[in-house]
Amino acid sequence: MTIAVTGATGQLGRLIVEDLIEAGVAPDQIVAVGRSAERLAGLPVRTAVASYEDVAALTAAFEGVDTLVLVSGSEVGQRVPQHTNAIEAAKAAGVTRVVYTSAPHADTSDLLLVPEHRATEELLRASGLAWTIVRNNWYTENYAQTVAQARETGVILTSTGTGRVASASRADYAAGAAAVAAGEGHEGRVYELTGDVAWTFDEFAAAVAEVLGTPVVHQAVSADEHAEILGGAGLDEGTVGFVVGLDQGIARGDLADATADLRTLIGRPTTPLAETLRTL
Ligand SMILES: NC(=O)c1ccc[n+]([C@@H]2O[C@H](COP(=O)([O-])OP(=O)(O)OC[C@H]3O[C@@H](n4cnc5c(N)ncnc54)[C@H](OP(=O)(O)O)[C@@H]3O)[C@@H](O)[C@H]2O)c1
Repeated sequence: MTIAVTGATGQLGRLIVEDLIEAGVAPDQIVAVGRSAERLAGLPVRTAVASYEDVAALTAAFEGVDTLVLVSGSEVGQRVPQHTNAIEAAKAAGVTRVVYTSAPHADTSDLLLVPEHRATEELLRASGLAWTIVRNNWYTENYAQTVAQARETGVILTSTGTGRVASASRADYAAGAAAVAAGEGHEGRVYELTGDVAWTFDEFAAAVAEVLGTPVVHQAVSADEHAEILGGAGLDEGTVGFVVGLDQGIARGDLADATADLRTLIGRPTTPLAETLRTL
């Protein structure tokens, strides 16, 4: 069985490739797909250069592939046409199953960033291909900058209220995707991949304080206050709307749902919050 991974030069894709090798998939049965030959060089598997814009190159990259791990693209606003190209190429190349990295509760969530994932899930369902959807909650690593700011100021400012985030480490999600890609019986399944624990920002601040060894507090403000503070700090309107909008999603509980899906797939507990924070 041959498995291709897109976004293989990215942080998640690279880890998925490593996990497939660790799971016993032969390196010559793994195809790492990326848009840069330079960044693909050195990966210990077969490689193929194809951008999401180039259906012919994607089709050639997927030739002889049974399972495609379609790691969602990173160019927000471009992802629906890009993923459409990847799915069309998978069909043309005779791929059997696509594993897609989506977003939490993508079918129902109002969270910012979800619409492109919802549209991709719909494309997959309509494609006639077998599929598995792995809906990744937040990466704990998303908060690297928050930790850096807390180191400087001792404050973590959010408008998340008491909302919870069921984050896990990128490595955990990669292991989950690799388990689904290399395993059997996952066709037509939707997995909500999350950390084992959904934390509040009060708890997050306590974990950061423990890791840094200095006092850190969570300063909870309203959405309006948050926007005013960020605008006052010089952020442009679009960025302010994005940051506050994400916090409102967390306040609503859009990322709060901790499931057993990820720990079941990887056969171990997910990495504790403080352990990942220590690596940032
Ligand atoms: N759940 C979360 O918290 C969370 C957070 C961030 C992102 N995400 C999503 O998860 C995906 C993987 O995360 P990540 O951390 O691995 O992101 P990343 O490190 O930014 O990797 C993105 C990958 O997509 C590739 N890519 C981007 N545009 C492309 C194009 N037009 N054609 C071909 N390849 C293209 C990049 O190639 P290059 O190396 O050539 O740039 C890279 O390999 C992201 O793309 C995003 O959709 C989720």
